[in-house]
Amino acid sequence: MSETPIDLTLLDPILEEFKEQKGAVIPVLQRAQDVYGYLPKEVLGAISEKTGVPLSRLYGVVTFYSQFNLERQGRHIVRVCDGTACHVRGAPKIVADIGDALNLEPGSSDSDYKYTLEIVYCLGSCGLAPVVVVDDVVYGQTKSDTLVEKLLQLE
Ligand code: FES
Repeated sequence: MSETPIDLTLLDPILEEFKEQKGAVIPVLQRAQDVYGYLPKEVLGAISEKTGVPLSRLYGVVTFYSQFNLERQGRHIVRVCDGTACHVRGAPKIVADIGDALNLEPGSSDSDYKYTLEIVYCLGSCGLAPVVVVDDVVYGQTKSDTLVEKLLQLE
């Protein structure tokens, strides 16, 4: 599958907006991620070149804050909690069942970038274990078959 070239001109309005605000690295990165869905190396390189902020500093920021992604994400982010309470109540089976049904490994996306599967550790809702968050929707006492059915219905 060939990758579509990244249109770096989409950065121009963002850089224009923040050009007077030296050191506005985080808002620039946030806006760039909104536009591209993640922060590919070409985008980071262009931001570095046009703002004069060293690439190493940009990578430092991007890897420090979990809100930033260096890898392309699926349109739907599936976060399965595997903290202690959720683990004991069946999270590993949920991960395995989602993996089998959607052909996904934890920490990866499918080839169409429809789903990204992430494992997280305690979402603070242990009473609802096992907990899965799909995009912004929280599912408690999750059963694999119902969850997989819901995931397959997503556009
Ligand atoms: S362990 Fe899953 S919500 Fe706390």
